[in-house]
Amino acid sequence: MKTGESEMNNIIQIQNLTKAFDGKEVVANCNMNVQKNSIYGFLGANGAGKTTVLKLITGLLNPTAGKISVMNLDSQESNSEVLRNIGCMIETPLFYEHLSATENLELHLSYMDIQNTNVGEVLNLVGLSSTGNQSVSQFSLGMRQRLGIARAIIHKPKILLLDEPINGLDPMGIKEMRELFLTLVKKENMTIVVSSHILSEIEYVADKIGVIVDGAIVEEVTLSSIREKYPEGLEEYFLSKMSGGKNNE
Ligand SMILES: Nc1ncnc2c1ncn2[C@@H]1O[C@H](COP(=O)(O)OP(=O)(O)O)[C@@H](O)[C@H]1O
Ligand SMILES: [Mg+2]
Repeated sequence: MKTGESEMNNIIQIQNLTKAFDGKEVVANCNMNVQKNSIYGFLGANGAGKTTVLKLITGLLNPTAGKISVMNLDSQESNSEVLRNIGCMIETPLFYEHLSATENLELHLSYMDIQNTNVGEVLNLVGLSSTGNQSVSQFSLGMRQRLGIARAIIHKPKILLLDEPINGLDPMGIKEMRELFLTLVKKENMTIVVSSHILSEIEYVADKIGVIVDGAIVEEVTLSSIREKYPEGLEEYFLSKMSGGKNNE
């Protein structure tokens, strides 16, 4: 393999990342490579370390060891520049329930001191432009997730990190979410990392899947390459990886 070439295409690159809480390693020697302008499915059982890794990428947490580079910048040394290029929705987004989608986004903009942003345009992008004066308290879970994404991308970041955004959505909500991801990647040239503990939530949208077990990525594969090998379906393959290969062979 030619050195440098693949690294250059990686908008996020994690090397030997370790994070310990009170001396206990919950992320251990984790390596991750996210290609520019793609959707990366981050798959792992509950407690595997997905949320922790996403927080480390944004700099919400500091690594115990290892290196994270985002757009070829060190995520710690250049954190403010990195943050300008990242939008994230980690855990359930909270809103002012009695306010509309527009009002919630306008408040966010004033808090964040972001100017020159068209709220209507962002709401249109996430499919909420027809909600008008409706208050967020009347929104479905899917609408809330899409409003959370609108808030996460309002400063036009290159990278969007989404922590279990599909969890709990009904089939229509899942379909709308998939379409939104594809729009963001194709039309807005974004790169999306989407975590899930359920393969079927991400297998039809992700270009590549990284499987995390006990804080380390044990497998990173493009779905196209793996589909060729397992035309019957990927469920068993990934379940075995997610359980640390315990069901394997
Ligand atoms: N702030 C914290 N202090 C101590 N342990 C934590 C903290 N945050 C997460 N953990 C532990 O790290 C492990 C991974 O958690 P998490 O990243 O939330 O996993 P996932 O998102 O894949 O469910 C879990 O065992 C969790 O209890
Ligand atoms: Mg989590």
